[in-house]
Order: sequence, then C-alpha cells, then structure tokens
Amino acid sequence: MSTTETNANIAATTTFGKVPTDHMFIAEYKNGKWNEGTLTRFQHISLSPFALCFHYGQTVFEGMKAFRMKDGQVNVFRPLKNFERMNLSLERMCMPPLSEELFMHGVSEMVKADKKFIDEDEESSLYIRPLVIATEERIGVKVSDEYLFIVMCSPAKKYFANPIKVKVETEFTRAAEGGTGFAKCGGNYGAAYYPTHLAHLQGYDQVIWTDGQNHEYMEESGTMNVIFVVDGTLITPALSGTILEGITRDSILTLARKNGMKVEERRVSVKEIQDAFESGKKVEACGVGTVAVVAPIEQIDINGKKYTPFTGDNSQMAKMKRQLLEIRLGIQKDENGWNYMVK
Ligand code: COI
Repeated sequence: MSTTETNANIAATTTFGKVPTDHMFIAEYKNGKWNEGTLTRFQHISLSPFALCFHYGQTVFEGMKAFRMKDGQVNVFRPLKNFERMNLSLERMCMPPLSEELFMHGVSEMVKADKKFIDEDEESSLYIRPLVIATEERIGVKVSDEYLFIVMCSPAKKYFANPIKVKVETEFTRAAEGGTGFAKCGGNYGAAYYPTHLAHLQGYDQVIWTDGQNHEYMEESGTMNVIFVVDGTLITPALSGTILEGITRDSILTLARKNGMKVEERRVSVKEIQDAFESGKKVEACGVGTVAVVAPIEQIDINGKKYTPFTGDNSQMAKMKRQLLEIRLGIQKDENGWNYMVK
C-alpha cells in the first residue's frame, strides 16, 4: 500500500527526513556493555536478515532539534529530557540503557560535525534522530543480546505547510492501558499507519487518538500531543501511560503557567470538546511535538461533525509557539535553562 498524498499539507511533510547530513555516530552493545562509540561519515550499515530488530520490534528512537541562535551559537533543545525518555522506552522494550555520557557525546559530536546544515531562516533546525536497534542474529523470539546505538541528523524546516485538518478516531486504537503508548518504540508508529492512511484518504492530515477502552477521551494527535485552549484555559490529556511524554508539550505547559494561564492536565472527553464548540466557546486546538512544534488545527471532525477551532497569530498557542522559538533562537531569555549549548 502506498501512502496517498491527498493534499499539499501532507506533501510538505513527506519531504521531512529525506536527506541525511554528512555524518553519523555509532556505538555497539556486546557482552553486556556499550562501547564508547565513534563518529563516522554517514553510511549504510550491514545487518543479517536474522537481526532481531527486523522481526519482533525491538527498536526505540528519539527526536530533538538543534538551533542556530541569533549570536551564531548552536544549541540543542532540552536533550537531557530525550535522554531520560529514551531510557524509559529502552526499559519497556527490554533493551539496555544508555549512559548520559554516551547519549550526550553522540548528540554533541553530531551537532558539532553537521551544524552547517542549519539554514539561516528562523524555521530551520537540525533534526537529531537517536536510534537503538536489536542486532543479535536469531530468528527465535528472544531479547537481543546485541544492539546498535546510532545518532543521525537531517535538516528540518516547517513540517506542515498549513494548519491541519484532523478527525477524532473512534474505531482504531493507538495504545491501551499497560501497553507501550508512553514509549517511543517503532511499533507504535507502524501500528498507526493504517488508520492514518484511511484518514488521509478522507482528506484529513492526522487523527486524534482516543482511549482504547471506550473511545471517550482524547489521547494524542497523530505523532503529536494535543492541546486545547477553551475560553482561555489550556486543557490537555494527562500523562496516563498511554501517551508520549512530549517535551514540546512540557515546554508549552511551562510557558503557559509562567504566562499566568490556567492549565489543566486531566482526562479530556471528546464530548466536552464537542460541547465547547456547540455552546460557542472559543476553542483552540493544536498538535505539539518536536518535528511539527505547534501545529494549529483548523478543522476537527468529531462524530462526523466538522468544527473550526480558532487559529491565527492572535491565538494563545501561536503566541506561545513564537515565545518558544524566540527562546531557542536566543531572542528571549532562556529562564528555564532549556538550551544546551554545543561548543
Ligand atoms: C516528534 O515530533 O517528536 C516525532 O516523533 C515525529 C516523528 C515520528 C516524525
């Protein structure tokens, strides 16, 4: 099945991550320990078809971005949060943890080597993709004894060309209680392809996932967390174990609280959001994630009815998106110590 591109928005996203930069960082896990890793030219790797990663889904990844600041320095945004999340994912997938030293060494080496790929324009960044895969050669279903940790990069620009159209998904499920929803493991993404493909065919950019039990509560928007602003109050699904602990999500919530907004992290029912639209409340809706940053939702389909959230430069979410960008670019003070400077 091919990915059907039904609109220009989706076409824009398909260019993301196509081009590697010049280098990669690679470390090996064997005999119970990671080696120190090395920076090499970007190259293909050779694996046996027996390698366990091809069969049973022991793959975990991360995503973060490096930015060029107005004074020319380069920073990585909150990489230690990605490090912590990667180890949570690795633990859930029975894979060996990385040391902070190895993770940060890989990331820093890559940014130092390939920072020239960050363009001058404000929306440009270097997307950094750490990956751990099971490499032991074995067809049997077992936890691998061997792994590779690879850090690769790709230049990134704006992910969605325009505000997005989504539908609240009430048939398929992304994650169930006790499952791997909180982990950034490959299987979560592969399992989302089919429902997302169907949504594309219907003209939507993404789905908003709902809980696996009764499809009553909002979970995530495609590959992003979802945030609503209803009459000035920011409302977002709480971290329940079924959604990813998004770093952009956390950053926006921090900014909102600092800006004096009321912030509610809790269960958000589909009905509550539909009622808010029906009763004429001012509703903003956005997907937030590393790649898309803050993606405004301009149309949301709930139970077959289409609603139009408030978007545009005057929305609260657009203002916080700008604030986040200015912190990353060094235009606003980084009061939270989020920018990790790469020397
Ligand atoms: C992110 O934005 O953090 C993502 O993981 C999206 C990626 C899977 C393309």
